[in-house]
Amino acid sequence: MNTNNLNWWETAIIYQIYPRSFQDSNDDGIGDLPGITSRLEYIANLGVDAIWISPFFKSPQKDFGYDVSDYCDINPEYGTLSDFDALLAKAHKLGLKVMVDIVPAHCSDEHVWFEESRQSRDNPKADWFHWVEPNPDGTPPTNWLSFFGGPAWSWEPLRQQYYLHNFLSSQPNLNHANPAVREAFNDIARFWFDRGVDGFRIDAVHTINADSEPYKNNLANPEFVPGDLPQQQQPFFRQLHDSGQLNQPAIQLFTESFRAVADHYGDRYLMGELHGDDAIKASQTFTAPGRLHATYNFNLLHWVGLDVDGLKDAITKAIGAFNGTGRLSFAFSNHDVPRSATRQMLGLGLQEDQQQAMQLLLLKLESCLIGSTCIYQGEELALQDVQDIPVDKMQDPWGIEFAPVFLGRDTCRTPMVWSENAPNGGFSKANSTWLPIDQRHLQRAGLDEAQRPHSVYNEFAEFLKWRKNQPALMNENTMSEVMGGPNEIIFDRISEQQTLRCLFDFESLTATFTTK
Ligand code: GLC
Ligand code: CA
Repeated sequence: MNTNNLNWWETAIIYQIYPRSFQDSNDDGIGDLPGITSRLEYIANLGVDAIWISPFFKSPQKDFGYDVSDYCDINPEYGTLSDFDALLAKAHKLGLKVMVDIVPAHCSDEHVWFEESRQSRDNPKADWFHWVEPNPDGTPPTNWLSFFGGPAWSWEPLRQQYYLHNFLSSQPNLNHANPAVREAFNDIARFWFDRGVDGFRIDAVHTINADSEPYKNNLANPEFVPGDLPQQQQPFFRQLHDSGQLNQPAIQLFTESFRAVADHYGDRYLMGELHGDDAIKASQTFTAPGRLHATYNFNLLHWVGLDVDGLKDAITKAIGAFNGTGRLSFAFSNHDVPRSATRQMLGLGLQEDQQQAMQLLLLKLESCLIGSTCIYQGEELALQDVQDIPVDKMQDPWGIEFAPVFLGRDTCRTPMVWSENAPNGGFSKANSTWLPIDQRHLQRAGLDEAQRPHSVYNEFAEFLKWRKNQPALMNENTMSEVMGGPNEIIFDRISEQQTLRCLFDFESLTATFTTK
């Protein structure tokens, strides 16, 4: 008897696509929606349940789509709305759910909302952003810093006021205290749900702000120690962010109204990206009844990677939250951090075949944890991070700001390769691609690996097929504590029909499963 009454997203393996770098269909060197559509079989054959596509909406691309100028249209270089409809129809036919990436915290400074708002203090959109008076000495209202460097406030001469931006100055923060802003996002949700999307990845949900004067300064982070990595040495991490910059209680006005819209459509998934000073604790607030279904957590996404003890600890902390009210989604890699194939293996001196075994082990591990799992394009090929992109070819504004000390996020965003011998690895026939193709990736090209017996792609596909038949993994959200010796991670997944012991051995780089 199948006792499964979980929703699809509670056990989903979600494949994350970075559209600019997946497949170019018109040879301009930039990936696009028809390109994704042409590669959907490759994704479906892997046996994942859903895709999440990073933003493809109209955008000046200052932060590669996370700066949206129209949430209900497609950026021309990625295609048209009918290209999106074709993608969605084919994905559904192949049994894949489709999630899109919505950015509610900020928009582009080229969005009509901001263009209007910045003009004067009394226009119809005057209160859609955070407009604040300067201090008497002309300085910004608080000491808040932007994630990408520099102050989180920029000056608008037309209004003689500062506006808030937690990221680039071209990404002004929306004011979610204004009900009209929330209603605009409800309309955007309806627009995409009506087209048939199955859920949203909600970008940087902890950075949503609602005007809450008086603004207070951030305090210094007493635990700050400059880490080994340049990213950890940036000033942003020297502050605590609970004075109002991050995780404001008012964010829940947004999560509740967005959830109400999703519930109206039935089985849709809302997964919020949640970072911040204590994200696991915060995830319980974000996933309380009537709010988000799950938070996308960063526990396994550390820039440096984690050793086995670190992994154990990260999983233990995360499942603590999961067993409360919250649901979590796990990931080892995404478009913002160095690839796990490089990160987790730093200094281990692994041979090529061991690297692949390690990557497969990590994929299996995350697919056995409770909650949904996100894997990033290329993880199924054990692609390495590309850390030698020449400075003059860099694209990520964050990397450009801090190069050459910090390389930013281009390193994990280079185009996918499909066939070793095709021009640009089959990504594009253009003379040059938006980020360079990595020649080392060519030995692990997607379509080639899908043909090669025992490739990471095929072993993982085999594993995902097996996983679907394990009641303990598919029917129930119960997981024991994490156990095991120094080089092992062991836990049980438990359902009425089955107790499955999952053992990940980091010495032999193998996973073993036994039914008790
Ligand atoms: C999220 C995205 C990242 C983007 C930022 C600002 O963290 O994953 O790529 O730069 O939000 O939208
Ligand atoms: Ca293109």
